[in-house]
Amino acid sequence: MNPDTIPQNRPLTDSFGRHVSYLRISVTDRCDLRCRYCMSEKMQFLPRSEILSFEEIDQIATAFIDRGVRKIRLSGGEPLVRRGVLDLVDMLGRHLDSGNLDELTMTTNASRLAEFAERLVDAGVRRVNVSLDTLDSETFRYITRWGDLDKTLQGIAAAKSAGLKVKINMVGLKGLNDDQIVPMMRWCADQGHDLTLIETMPLGQIDDDRQDRYLPLDSVQRQLENQFSLNPLAERTGGPARYWQVEQLGLKLGLITPLTNNFCDGCNRVRITVSGKIYMCLGHDDNLDLRTALRKGGREALDALLDRAMLMKPKRHDFAIGSDSRPSVERHMSVTGG
Ligand code: 5AD
Ligand code: SF4
Repeated sequence: MNPDTIPQNRPLTDSFGRHVSYLRISVTDRCDLRCRYCMSEKMQFLPRSEILSFEEIDQIATAFIDRGVRKIRLSGGEPLVRRGVLDLVDMLGRHLDSGNLDELTMTTNASRLAEFAERLVDAGVRRVNVSLDTLDSETFRYITRWGDLDKTLQGIAAAKSAGLKVKINMVGLKGLNDDQIVPMMRWCADQGHDLTLIETMPLGQIDDDRQDRYLPLDSVQRQLENQFSLNPLAERTGGPARYWQVEQLGLKLGLITPLTNNFCDGCNRVRITVSGKIYMCLGHDDNLDLRTALRKGGREALDALLDRAMLMKPKRHDFAIGSDSRPSVERHMSVTGG
């Protein structure tokens, strides 16, 4: 096709007709914690020279927004450990003001949220997802290797008082926090937070054995159904979560079950790493290098690569927690964000 005839704002549609309207951007692969299911204790992080500048992230985000992305989530690693990250949030916030973006959100471990919550609200952020796997401080320290539960809870409280809607993400870990699912449900209901339970996904080499800790959430769901009425909600976000209303608690409960349930049909998202690679699927290693395209060929080259990326988006992930200990995907969750 003659490039002049390609409309500049052509939508991002993959070869299965799925429209990409949601972009996740990992702003750093670093984190101040080392959750056992996520990272090994000694991690090799990317050198700073490899990571996108805020201006580059903004250019990439703007290309996506021009082509129909309506929602952006900043994640990591821990986004709030990247120096000056609020400047990026402010930059992206202008797309909320212009009405070209519906939502700008963040996934955080909340360790620094007390310091940043107000400014996130000022920039237009309305909701955050907070990773919190237990309310028991010793278990918290064990899972995160050195985290301080009080700091996380203070961060969550600050978010709430700043007016942010909080969703707690809890990764189910057999023998570690399965006895804390119901207490977490009660606490979230009490605090007015939503809760999503997540199955561990085989991403990246870690020190522990994922197989040992794998907690299939379909069995958790059956147990919860003995105790509570779970009313299914129709709501889907184009992502993996399915939602229930827990009648007795007045709690919205989500379950993310990549291993016991495949969720790919309605997938509407792609992910950008901190070094500017685009991944079309959390469960595949295929990626394209947007940073080089942007640096060498500007917006036009970037758009051409986004077209190619759409054709590469696979139909579904093929995660499995197999008998061998190798992860399905070599990179850690912190490279592409959750
Ligand atoms: N499997 C499942 N969830 C993970 N997270 C990080 N690594 C994994 C993994 N291997 C979670 C974090 C956070 C979200 C972004 O993903 O707890 O809530
Ligand atoms: Fe950090 Fe989140 Fe990974 Fe824990 S799960 S180590 S908080 S990125």
